[in-house]
Amino acid sequence: MRLGNKELPLPLIQGGMGVGVSLGGLAGAVASCGGMGTISTADIGFREPDFYEHPNEANLRALKKEIRRAKTIAGGRGLVAVNAMVATRQFEEAVRTAVAEGVDAVCSGAGLPLNLPELAGGADVLLAPIVSSGKAASVICRTWLKRYRRLPDFVVLEGPQAGGHLGFSYDSVCAGITDKLDDLLSQVREALRAVAPDREIPVFVAGNASDEGIMSACKTGGAAGIQVATPFIATKECDASDSYKQVLLKAKPEDLCIIHSPVGMPGRAVKTPLVQRILEGAREPVSHCYSCIKSCKPVQIPFCITKALIAAVEGNVEEGLFFSGGSVGQCNQMTTVPELVDALMTKWRNVL
Ligand SMILES: Cc1cc2nc3c(=O)[nH]c(=O)nc-3n(C[C@H](O)[C@H](O)[C@H](O)COP(=O)(O)O)c2cc1C
Repeated sequence: MRLGNKELPLPLIQGGMGVGVSLGGLAGAVASCGGMGTISTADIGFREPDFYEHPNEANLRALKKEIRRAKTIAGGRGLVAVNAMVATRQFEEAVRTAVAEGVDAVCSGAGLPLNLPELAGGADVLLAPIVSSGKAASVICRTWLKRYRRLPDFVVLEGPQAGGHLGFSYDSVCAGITDKLDDLLSQVREALRAVAPDREIPVFVAGNASDEGIMSACKTGGAAGIQVATPFIATKECDASDSYKQVLLKAKPEDLCIIHSPVGMPGRAVKTPLVQRILEGAREPVSHCYSCIKSCKPVQIPFCITKALIAAVEGNVEEGLFFSGGSVGQCNQMTTVPELVDALMTKWRNVL
């Protein structure tokens, strides 16, 4: 399919997963199969020796390395993207660095990426907001048109069953009263048509989009493709540790819960010991600040999200925060990226 002036062979995006879950290894493998592989920029430098003292520098250095690694693995096939969250302090620098490094696409959510076109300058890069409502899509498109005379090259719509941070209120997600992904899709497509009646902006749906029923409803509703994240954790190529993968492989939908994240949004995660303690009201003192989230107030939060996500990716089950989408449980054995991409695309072709 055509996206802007680039070709994406398969209607599949592997969703960005921070911290360290989708780096150049996973993103490159997905791109080499013809999909869009996404590197998450969130605290990407956690393995750099100076990360503790200089997280900013370490992150930008690691971001360049991971983009190069992904492109080498991709070998010119598919597309390599980065996911940069608006809520992070390094959002602007991370986007500028990724664009300068020649990434094919930038996807941005966890806030409204109103200045994304400015950060990309005139570079040949696809730009995509990640939204959870027609209203957000409309605000972003109108702002981009007014300020930059530009529209998104595609949009990612994240529904209520996605993993990580969710663009819905805590209460509505817990009560299960959010709109379904296919209903949100029609709202987003309507909002896009209202802003750009002469152009069809492709919408990729995310949040358990690997489920046959959800995929079918969204394909019928006009989705251009799917963004999938959680199932990619159980692949050989995923950049997380084996113990991280085992936590996700063993988890069932009933092991998931919704937490109040220090980012200020609800997040879906596996109920591991840290999460259990937090749900019971415990506080884990923050001994060091990595300056990751713009709005975070270290004295007020119950735990440090950077510390917890790094503990998870390194396989520390006791201290780690393991984000997961509602699709957990669908994958109960390790696989490879080519096998998973093939299974997802076979499903996509066969659903109506
Ligand atoms: C472990 C994990 C980490 C994630 N990290 C990010 C992130 O850093 N930025 C982001 O925009 N979305 C993040 N997400 C959301 C995914 O990119 C994706 O849109 C969503 O999980 C799709 O649903 P699925 O996992 O059911 O396929 C994360 C999801 C998971 C499971």
